[in-house]
Amino acid sequence: MASSALICDTEQWKGLQAHVGEIQKTHLRHLMHDVERCKAMTAEYEGIYLDYSRQRATGETMEKLFKLAEAAKLKEKIEKMFRGDKINSTENRSVLHVALRAPRDEVINSNGVNVVPEVWGVKDKIKQFSETFRSGSWVGATGKALTNVVSVGIGGSFLGPLFVHAALQTDPEAAESAKGRQLRFLANVDPVDVARSIKDLDPETTLVVVVSKTFTTAETMLNARTLKEWIVSNLGPDAVAKHMIAVSTNLELVEKFGIDPKNAFAFWDWVGGRYSVCSAVGVLPLSLQYGFPIVQKFLEGAASIDKHFRSSSFEKNIPVLLGLLSVWNVSFLRYPARAILPYSQALEKFAPHIQQLSMESNGKGVSIDGVQLPFESGEIDFGEPGTNGQHSFYQLIHQGRVIPCDFIGVVKSQQPVYLKGEIVSNHDELMSNFFAQPDALAYGKTPEQLHSEKVPEHLIPHKTFQGNRPSLSLLLPSLSAYEIGQQLLAIYEHRIAVQGFLWGINSFDQWGVELGKSLASQVRKSLHASRVEGKPVLGFNSSTTSLLTRYLA
Ligand code: F6P
Repeated sequence: MASSALICDTEQWKGLQAHVGEIQKTHLRHLMHDVERCKAMTAEYEGIYLDYSRQRATGETMEKLFKLAEAAKLKEKIEKMFRGDKINSTENRSVLHVALRAPRDEVINSNGVNVVPEVWGVKDKIKQFSETFRSGSWVGATGKALTNVVSVGIGGSFLGPLFVHAALQTDPEAAESAKGRQLRFLANVDPVDVARSIKDLDPETTLVVVVSKTFTTAETMLNARTLKEWIVSNLGPDAVAKHMIAVSTNLELVEKFGIDPKNAFAFWDWVGGRYSVCSAVGVLPLSLQYGFPIVQKFLEGAASIDKHFRSSSFEKNIPVLLGLLSVWNVSFLRYPARAILPYSQALEKFAPHIQQLSMESNGKGVSIDGVQLPFESGEIDFGEPGTNGQHSFYQLIHQGRVIPCDFIGVVKSQQPVYLKGEIVSNHDELMSNFFAQPDALAYGKTPEQLHSEKVPEHLIPHKTFQGNRPSLSLLLPSLSAYEIGQQLLAIYEHRIAVQGFLWGINSFDQWGVELGKSLASQVRKSLHASRVEGKPVLGFNSSTTSLLTRYLA
C-alpha cells in the first residue's frame, strides 16, 4: 500500500466489508455453541486472560483482520514507534512513552540519542526527592514536614495519575505505605474545584506540584497562580521554594513562574500528554504518596506488556487483538461506542482516563497524510465500574443500542470480605455479575423462552432481549501495582495505537482541541475589557453576544 493510500481502498478492507454480510447472518447464541471457536478466541499473557469469543466474529473474521493488519503495515508501524521514528509527523516527534518504563540497560533512540539514561536520570531524582520528602527531611517554611500533596494539572497531566492513584489507594501494601498522607488533584479551573482541592489543608504541611507538559495550559496556570497565592499569603513569598515544585518539558517557563529549576522534574516532547503517566507526570506525585518502589512495580508491569506487544505474534498479542476487534466493531459492524466496565471499584477512574487516551488519540477526520477519511475513526468511550453501571445505563446496552463492552474482572480481591451467613463473599457477588452480563448480552432472551415461563402476552415484547451484543472479557489475577501498569495502562495504550495504525491516522497529535482554546482566549479578553474598562461586548455573533451580555449583567 502506497504511504498516502487509504486503508479503505485495499482489497483486505473490501474483503472485510464483504464478510460483514456473512456475520450478519449469525447470532452469538449459536456461535457460542462452537467450543473450538470459543477456545480459539482467547489469549493469555502473564496470567492476564482475554476471552473474545463473544465478539461478532469467526475464525475467518480474525484471518481477514490479520490480513488487514499486514496491509496496514502494522508490524512495521509498531517497530517504528519503538525505534523512535518520528511517527507523530504533524508535530515532527517520536512517540516513546515505552522508553519511560524501559529497563536501565535498554537502548531507545530519539534523534540518534539514547533516551533511556535521561529517563532514568529523572527517575533517580524522583526516587531521591520522594525519599527525602517522605522521611520528613524536606521541611516547609515553618519547619514542619509536608504530608499533603496537591497535584495541579489537566487532561493527560491529571487523568492517568488520578486513575493509578484511585487504584493504588485500595491496594493494602500501597495504602499502608501512604498512611498519614494525602494526595489530591486539582484539574478544573472552576473555583469550586480549587476550594475543594485545598479544603481543610494546612499550607504549612502542603506541597503543590504543578504538572504541565507545556506550562502554558490556561486552566493549569491560573490554578497554579491561585495556589501560589494561597501559599504566599499564608507563609510569605520565600515559602514557594519549599512548597511548590513542577513537572514539565518547559523548564524555562517553570523558572519564570518562580519555581526553582532544582525542584523541577523534566520530561520530553516525545511523550504525549495522554501517554505521560509513566513520566514524572505520574511517577512524581504517586511516589510522594506511595513511595518510589511501589511506583517502579507499576512501571515494570507496563514494560512487560511493551515486550509482549512488540514481540508476540498477532494471534497471541492482547493489545493487537483488542485493537483489531475495535476496528472491526467501529468500521465494519458500525458500532460507534465502546463501554469500559471494570468490575472493580479500584478502577473507578479507568474509564475517564481511557476516554482521553482513546478519543483524543483516534478522534480524527483525516489520514496521517492529510487525506479526508471516507470512514469514521475513533469511538465514543464511556464506562463505570460494575455493578454501578448495571443500575444506570445497562438498560440501553441490553435492549437499546448495541455497544461493544469490555468487561474487566479481577480474580483476587484487594479486600476479601465474607459476611457470615451470606452464600457468597462480596467479591464473588461482584464477579457473579461480571460472568453473567456477557452471556445476557450475547444470548438475550427469546419470546419462546418467555412463553414457556408463562410471561403475560402483553409483556413479551418488553421482556424480550435480542441478544447478539458483543463483548469481551479480561480477567486479571489481582490488582497489584504491577497489574495496574500492565492491564490498565499499557494494554489500552497499545490497543489504541493499533487502532490508529490500522486506520492510517496520527494517534499522537490533538489539533482538535486548539480551536476551542483560541476562541476562549478571545472571550477571556472581552470579559476583561467589559469588567475592567466597561467596554461593550464586540466581535461575536449575535447568539454569543447575547449570552455574554446576559452573563456580564
Ligand atoms: O487540551 C488538550 C491537552 O493538550 C492534552 O493533550 C494535554 O494532556 C492537556 O491539554 C494538558 O496539557 P499540559 O500538560 O501541557 O498542561
